[in-house]
Amino acid sequence: MSEKALIKLNNTELELPILTGTENEKAIDITKLRDQSGYITLDAGFKNTGATKSAITFLDGEHGILRYRGYPIEQLAEKATFLEVAYLLIYGDLPSTETLAKFRGKIKSQMMVHEDMKMFFAGFPSKAHPMGQLSCLVGALSAFYPESLNPNQSEEEENETIINLLGKMPTIVSWIQKKSLGHPVIYPKKDFGYIENFLNMIFGEVNCEKTFDPVVIDAMHKLLILHADHEQNCSTSTVRIVGSSNANLYASVSAGINALWGPLHGGANQAVIEMLEDIKNDGGDVEKYLAKAKDKNDPFRLMGFGHRVYKNFDPRAKIIKKACDDVLEKLGVNDSILDIAKQLEHAALNDSYFIDRKLYPNVDFYSGIIYRALGFKSDMFTVLFALGRLPGWIAQWKEMRDNKEPIGRPRQLYVGETEREYVPIDNR
Ligand code: CMC
Repeated sequence: MSEKALIKLNNTELELPILTGTENEKAIDITKLRDQSGYITLDAGFKNTGATKSAITFLDGEHGILRYRGYPIEQLAEKATFLEVAYLLIYGDLPSTETLAKFRGKIKSQMMVHEDMKMFFAGFPSKAHPMGQLSCLVGALSAFYPESLNPNQSEEEENETIINLLGKMPTIVSWIQKKSLGHPVIYPKKDFGYIENFLNMIFGEVNCEKTFDPVVIDAMHKLLILHADHEQNCSTSTVRIVGSSNANLYASVSAGINALWGPLHGGANQAVIEMLEDIKNDGGDVEKYLAKAKDKNDPFRLMGFGHRVYKNFDPRAKIIKKACDDVLEKLGVNDSILDIAKQLEHAALNDSYFIDRKLYPNVDFYSGIIYRALGFKSDMFTVLFALGRLPGWIAQWKEMRDNKEPIGRPRQLYVGETEREYVPIDNR
């Protein structure tokens, strides 16, 4: 017998269906609740609200489990390449050697960005935040590829848009980096892999060839894989909801980039490094900053700590912490803020405020230290998060389209004034 939920509203009893996911997660289906009762549910921040059924990422926050299409994040981070994971997320299965080679080839052929994009890009002040530039440039791709505006694209056409965005994103990111330095952009090279091309466009120079330590290439794959999807978070929900109005992929992802920018979401990786620097410059007293984080009259929060869904540990943080130690050691980098980060983590994990609230280091706590060791400036960190998250956003946008989901449109509980008469301005 299928499970049902019984809701008693005054004297009326309603039966609502219970849905069960493949990992035995349960949901009360309230689709018909308002029609049957006139009531809606209220859930600020969507803390208990499932917005969709999804087959992409499984996350169990209580047990620290994260899987893409069924594959544990630990295995993917250890063994897969970023484009392999991108393929997995977007199309549902791991690619064969041949399929992956084709996928890579197609993406590589789309890495050049239209030269006219440079004209309006040139208008950004050199100090403009990279995330603002990234969202504008990604949104602007829709102007260069107007065929993407058709919500009824064939599967093949939709795939071209997907490949185009995957190909151009690293190039756009590198433009932003080069502009901040006042250096000429580097074009993608046909004989380089995705990550090598990205690193070369970021760190290479027109007047000299650059080679990259396999440790650096490996770390980049790992970091991007760890960020590649995270089910219905703030930016992904934004991508889905924008796309649900039939907005094109570029516009939807551009909106996701803006959602990611905030320091409570992807912007935390930049905020963590700035916080650790502040602590260091202030004498390295981690207890002082813990006290600030606990003080409800102080807006300061321990950046890189806490998560909406992880209430035990963030599996991504575990992998990143180890990678951080490995990368710094292999590159021979000695970064004093790594010590501060470890002291802060240790102190917080032994403090009842953080224990009681189940606050643990999240993915952003150590990622910035690796990015810094690789040579990225801190305002580029969130852009790197976006580059990693791109396949996830695309997969979620595609799933929403494939499932023909309705336009996203929440309701509200109105708490404003009831009807009142307009008062002419002279009588107010
Ligand atoms: N420092 C101090 N107190 C905290 C922190 C923190 N980092 N995070 C949560 N709390 C407290 C919060 O004040 C509240 O306390 P109380 O119950 O006494 O009012 C309690 O813990 C629950 O917090 P919340 O804000 O209701 O939890 P949430 O699920 O709405 O927020 C969060 C999750 C990630 C926004 C939050 O933990 C936070 O602001 N963390 C710092 C920013 C950060 O690192 N963000 C990156 C998240 S991981 C990357 C990504 O996937 O986006």
